[in-house]
Amino acid sequence: MKVDVLLGLQWGDEGKGKVVDVLTPHYDIIGRFQGGPNAGHTLEFDGQKHVLHTIPSGIFHDDTLNVVGNGVVIDPIIFNREIDGLLKHEVSINDKLLISRKAHLILPTHRLLDAASEQAKGKKKIGSTLKGIGPTYMDKTGRNGLRVGDIESEDFDKKYNALREKHLQILSGFDFEYDLEPMEKEWMDAIERFRSYPLVDSEHFINNNLQAGKKILAEGAQGTLLDIDFGSYPFVTSSNTITAGACTGLGIAPGKIGEVYGIFKAYCTRVGSGPFPTELHDEEGEAIRKAGHEFGATTGRPRRCGWLDLPALKYAIMINGVTQLIMTKADVLSEFDEIKVCTAYKYRGEVIDYLPYDVLAEDLEPIFESRAGWKKDLTKLGSIEEIPAELDDYITYLESELKTPITIVSVGPDRTQTLTRTVASV
Ligand code: GDP
Ligand code: IMO
Ligand code: MG
Repeated sequence: MKVDVLLGLQWGDEGKGKVVDVLTPHYDIIGRFQGGPNAGHTLEFDGQKHVLHTIPSGIFHDDTLNVVGNGVVIDPIIFNREIDGLLKHEVSINDKLLISRKAHLILPTHRLLDAASEQAKGKKKIGSTLKGIGPTYMDKTGRNGLRVGDIESEDFDKKYNALREKHLQILSGFDFEYDLEPMEKEWMDAIERFRSYPLVDSEHFINNNLQAGKKILAEGAQGTLLDIDFGSYPFVTSSNTITAGACTGLGIAPGKIGEVYGIFKAYCTRVGSGPFPTELHDEEGEAIRKAGHEFGATTGRPRRCGWLDLPALKYAIMINGVTQLIMTKADVLSEFDEIKVCTAYKYRGEVIDYLPYDVLAEDLEPIFESRAGWKKDLTKLGSIEEIPAELDDYITYLESELKTPITIVSVGPDRTQTLTRTVASV
């Protein structure tokens, strides 16, 4: 058996949560491998909307186990809130949610450091979600971090205090005001509750289950263009959001990776700062934002909107080894007469079909091709055979450009609004 991976190919919010939920009945285990509460994964079914931040999106299915892997960073306060949200909907979690001992903890002072750093950057800020993600991963790679397994240790308070002191020292170098006490009280209370959750050595758990023939899906957070190595650095998150991240974030050997589902919106969005070559600053962008309800699931911030960027998508497919594509939010483009796609860029007097090193270059200009819009409501379609000819053309065009089959087309936020395509070969 191999582990399949589902991850975002753009700047996040591609609809990962929705599609993982749809695919969960085919899997025994869903595992998150990186990121933390910066993620906001939305699921909709039975007229209810749920947003998950740290908990894998398989949690609503009774027969599937959910693992928070070692590559994830956890804020116990947010984690408990998520659990409460699930309990309110009578979702049982006791026997189907496991947390890696090697996952790192986000401390209150990590959140303060995130905010202080963003404030100090001023106009150059990353637009972080302010959940403490960057500072927590910095402590992980700096070998100072506090891990979930440490809560089982007698030295936990000592370790916490040592890290806290270190953070306070760094904070004293910022012109930044804070009131740590109430934050810390809430965090310590959250940790007490956290002690009741089942912890696991997740790399053993995952590999033992693989060997036993269980089917596992790794759920990515953020997107490839936010990857710490391959994203639009420095406007990225602090983890590897790509397929390789599933290996390090769950303990899976590279040869054990199976299908790689790459998910993308039929257009592009980005929340936070940083380059976005196809961004629309006009009423077309506003129209996409409105039709797609493009506001952040974690921060509520309006998402920047633009047309699909093929060079960027090709890059993401290459880096991840994508074997199947999933296109979401096709329904959002139903009102447009024409759909634009960026096929190349003009850059320093030349036409290029790749993202240059200098992603902040002012003179990177997208070259668009126009395609006919479908101008039909897609949200009530029952099968892929019913899609309008123009959408079918759009899909076949993208498949031939991207040299990868599009096997799922999502046409609405609900579980049921999902069309599967059988593709022989591309
Ligand atoms: P994630 O972070 O990748 O899980 O995506 P988010 O949940 O942050 O953002 C995706 C948003 O689009 C959510 O509000 C989803 O409910 C919604 N969504 C997902 N797929 C579709 C789709 O095909 N059409 C429409 N209209 N909305 C969708
Ligand atoms: P999901 O999993 C969209 C963005 C932030 C910011 C940058 C760094 O829902 O797709 P961070 O808090 O990670 O230090 O912020 O990354 N960002 C996301 N954008 N979707 C996400 O997650 C994101 N997680 C982080 O807006 O620009
Ligand atoms: Mg999201």
